[in-house]
Amino acid sequence: MSHRAVTTLLFRRCLSTPATALLTSSSARTSRKLSQRGFASLQQKSSGSWQTAAAGRPRCFSVTSTSRSSSSAAAATEVQYESEPADRQYSITIGDIEARRKRDGRLVAGTAAMADIDSFKTFPAWRQLPKARRWDHILSKESAAREPCVLKQAARHLKKPGLISLGGGLPSPEHFPILNMSMRVPTGQTEFTEAAAASEDGGATVSMGKYDASQALGATSGGSGPAEYDLSIALNYGQSKGSAQMLRWVTEHTELVCHPPYSDWSTCLTVGSTGALEQALRIFCDRERGDTMLTETYSFSTALETAAPLGIKVLGVEMDDQGMLPESLDDLLSGWDVKARGSPKPHLLYTVPSGQNPTGATQGAARRKAIYDVCSLHDVYILEDEPYYFIQMPPYQRDRPATSTPAPAQTSDEFLQSLIPTFVSFDVDGRVMRMDSFSKVLVPGSRMGWLTASEQIIERFVRHAEACNQGPSGFSQAALYEIVEKTWGHEGYLKWLAHIRESYTQRRNILLDACEDHLPAGIVSWTPPAAGMFHWMKVDHTKHPDHGKRSILELEEEIFDLCIEKGVLVARGSWFAAQPDQPQTGMYFRATFAAASASAMTEAICRFGEAVRESYRL
Ligand SMILES: Cc1ncc(COP(=O)(O)O)c(C=O)c1O
Repeated sequence: MSHRAVTTLLFRRCLSTPATALLTSSSARTSRKLSQRGFASLQQKSSGSWQTAAAGRPRCFSVTSTSRSSSSAAAATEVQYESEPADRQYSITIGDIEARRKRDGRLVAGTAAMADIDSFKTFPAWRQLPKARRWDHILSKESAAREPCVLKQAARHLKKPGLISLGGGLPSPEHFPILNMSMRVPTGQTEFTEAAAASEDGGATVSMGKYDASQALGATSGGSGPAEYDLSIALNYGQSKGSAQMLRWVTEHTELVCHPPYSDWSTCLTVGSTGALEQALRIFCDRERGDTMLTETYSFSTALETAAPLGIKVLGVEMDDQGMLPESLDDLLSGWDVKARGSPKPHLLYTVPSGQNPTGATQGAARRKAIYDVCSLHDVYILEDEPYYFIQMPPYQRDRPATSTPAPAQTSDEFLQSLIPTFVSFDVDGRVMRMDSFSKVLVPGSRMGWLTASEQIIERFVRHAEACNQGPSGFSQAALYEIVEKTWGHEGYLKWLAHIRESYTQRRNILLDACEDHLPAGIVSWTPPAAGMFHWMKVDHTKHPDHGKRSILELEEEIFDLCIEKGVLVARGSWFAAQPDQPQTGMYFRATFAAASASAMTEAICRFGEAVRESYRL
């Protein structure tokens, strides 16, 4: 099995010669504008052995995105990378991680142990990277007022040999009525299917016992030395940041995927991204300050529902089929009039860069960088919500059989290389909080994900977690540890992600084939999603016989009701409007290819087509 899961730092993907650069027109315009203002991004923060980019220097990626109507069969957003000089390359491999672990020895982290994230970093020169900026000036009063939980702090003494604790109210594990926990999982040795998991050679029963870490291992854990994690640790109270055992894995995975280009980046576990966003908004936004959150014109409805009761205003930034338009973002911020707007200039942006919910839009590398640059220019902090990051798909092609499998990534290295760089990958300021989640790629019921951000912001987040959820459930941490750490390791997890991406690609293809076959051409159009689980369909309201007599919302409602009548549920575009009080300018519906079977998806799209035809009297 290849251990060459190489991740390259941002230069490999981001820098090249002018001749090879091919930015979208919008990104190119923004880049020009930014460099005209003397804006320099990467090179300002460089140090050590890093080679960095001069301001305005073109990037090596090229992005092509083709909008298409239902009658055509064009490709989805496509991102290509070109090679760049070897001296700009910089890599961390799974082999490097394993070597570091070997040097570090067994992880000893007992009940409520504090995790030292820095000790889990592999890149040898990480300390030479610049430090993140401080964000004190945008913290809410609520966040700034949070003090450490004294009881959690006191737990740091538990590791002292011989100490008898009469301190915190941690129950003794002898009172936990669980001796062990076991699960049947696919090992990935053959396939990752349910059938493989059940089979002798493709599946394994993994177990965690109560005292595996403190006893020589018995048969249950199947290991040769004492385990690093057990139920007596996982099921007791722990640090709100998460267990050291899971955080080691998360930190290593983040370094492989994101390779943050500053030194004091950190991670912590979350109870999924829904809760993480609520906590984040309470860190950065203040009702009394009249803060505004920027997002795409259409945004994840739960995010909007989270912001509203916190008194946070939401402003939608224009978007296209690659998501938010950096130029519109720049125009909005450059022309901000505090008096006219009645609120301070926004300092927070929420975005879903890959397979955006609801539009399915995926920001190409150039688009991401241009948005980051605008945010740097206007000192805006970015919340990068990426539950669909690893479900980046090859372009849709109509004439390929729907059930055919796209060529799978052969190695974890190839898989990583195929991914569009994350915002964190070029975050020299530490102005990004990335939210990862296990929900869409493993199990939503784990209620577990993690953050990547600067130490300062992670610390504020953890202070909040201490006073609300205390981090994710110990059951979840134990179960996911058994899968991603003990059974798969980094290599196996990346293979699993490649498998998941393949499955969703097939699902997407089936749904899009059905759209091509069953939706009225010239009325319903879309861009094939290049990531995620959502398909966003535009229904041309100007062609409706009642156009001009009935509002878009009324037409949308009629089609929605007809859909229900005919037995299909789709989501109405207006549910996702960032500013629902503004008149709708287009009529949209969202369909997901996440769950229904192939035949059910096709039937559902047929019914949706019938509903549209009936409303349009076709
Ligand atoms: C953009 C986005 N963020 C977050 C979530 C929820 O993630 P989690 O299950 O980790 O709370 C979803 C789920 O639909 C989503 O689409």
